[in-house]
Amino acid sequence: MRSLLQLMMIIGLIGSILITEGYAERRRNKQRRRTTTTEVAYEKDMNILGDEELNDEAAASSSEENDSVLRMDPCMDKHCGAGKICKTNGAGNAGCVCIDNCNEESDPRRKVCTNHNVTFGSDCEVYQARCFCDSGDSRCRSPEFQHVHIEYYGECRQMPSCKEEDLIDFPRRMRDWLFNIMRDLADRHELPSHYLKMQREAETNMTLRWTNSAIWKWCDLDGHPHDRTVSRHELFPIRAPLMALEHCIAPFLNNCDADNDHKITLKEWGKCLQLDEDDLDDKCDELAEAANAQ
Ligand SMILES: *[C@@H]1O[C@H](CO)[C@@H](O)[C@H](O)[C@H]1NC(C)=O
Ligand SMILES: *[C@@H]1O[C@H](CO)[C@@H](O)[C@H](O)[C@H]1NC(C)=O
Ligand SMILES: *[C@@H]1O[C@H](CO)[C@@H](O)[C@H](O)[C@H]1NC(C)=O
Repeated sequence: MRSLLQLMMIIGLIGSILITEGYAERRRNKQRRRTTTTEVAYEKDMNILGDEELNDEAAASSSEENDSVLRMDPCMDKHCGAGKICKTNGAGNAGCVCIDNCNEESDPRRKVCTNHNVTFGSDCEVYQARCFCDSGDSRCRSPEFQHVHIEYYGECRQMPSCKEEDLIDFPRRMRDWLFNIMRDLADRHELPSHYLKMQREAETNMTLRWTNSAIWKWCDLDGHPHDRTVSRHELFPIRAPLMALEHCIAPFLNNCDADNDHKITLKEWGKCLQLDEDDLDDKCDELAEAANAQ
């Protein structure tokens, strides 16, 4: 039983590293892109989880295209959210419309389970379904699809319920897991340089082992908007991939938001990881500045 749990943690670790890294990459692309567009794509609620992240690669590569191409095709520099594509109208103006067809996915791992416990062939199909309903398209299946979002990756299945005793042990496992991801990223030279010092401290000092990795993850999650709280939306990169492996992740993360304002402060984060508040410093900005100064 114990080794099975460990195995699951390792699978979860690898899976989530892949996914969080994918996100980080897209986020970087997005930051580049943001400088060239005026579009503000922030969502007001968590139903649009992870949305903007998904179509970024195409948008980022297009910004590197030749300027004259840009002038010819107004869609070149236009970013459309997931499940949408850019089309030009007769007057040569670019606009985002729902994508007509998502790529056929044969890999079952590309399937996703939604908040309605319905399996979709791919994340694209989820965003497309929502787009149809948002834009009053006749292809909207039913009004409830306006709020459809990805609950976890893979087909919908029977999730074991999270038992009280599993939840009790969860903060420890989560701390361990965060430390291990941080170490793994450092080993692969993929940890941003301004976190390396924290990582090295974490290797040598047991107190800093947990606190530094907790701070790192919190800073990392607090990306968009960067407002010193982690919204439910911003939890997407750890929540969705872990859901399938760790049935306690959802109740655990819900408990982290102790005052239920849909935002997790560093204080709340530390508390739910059972860390001493005094050991936690909000040094995200300090770290980012140090990185910029280099
Ligand atoms: C961009 O395209 C124009 C016209 O097609 C060409 O003359 C120019 O050399 C291109 N510039 C670059 C950097 O490729
Ligand atoms: C979700 O769907 C799966 C597969 O159809 C089913 O086994 C499971 O019980 C459902 N879960 C809930 C919460 O309804
Ligand atoms: C570990 O780090 C804490 C916090 O910076 C510090 O107070 C403590 O002395 C360190 N312990 C060791 C053994 O270096």
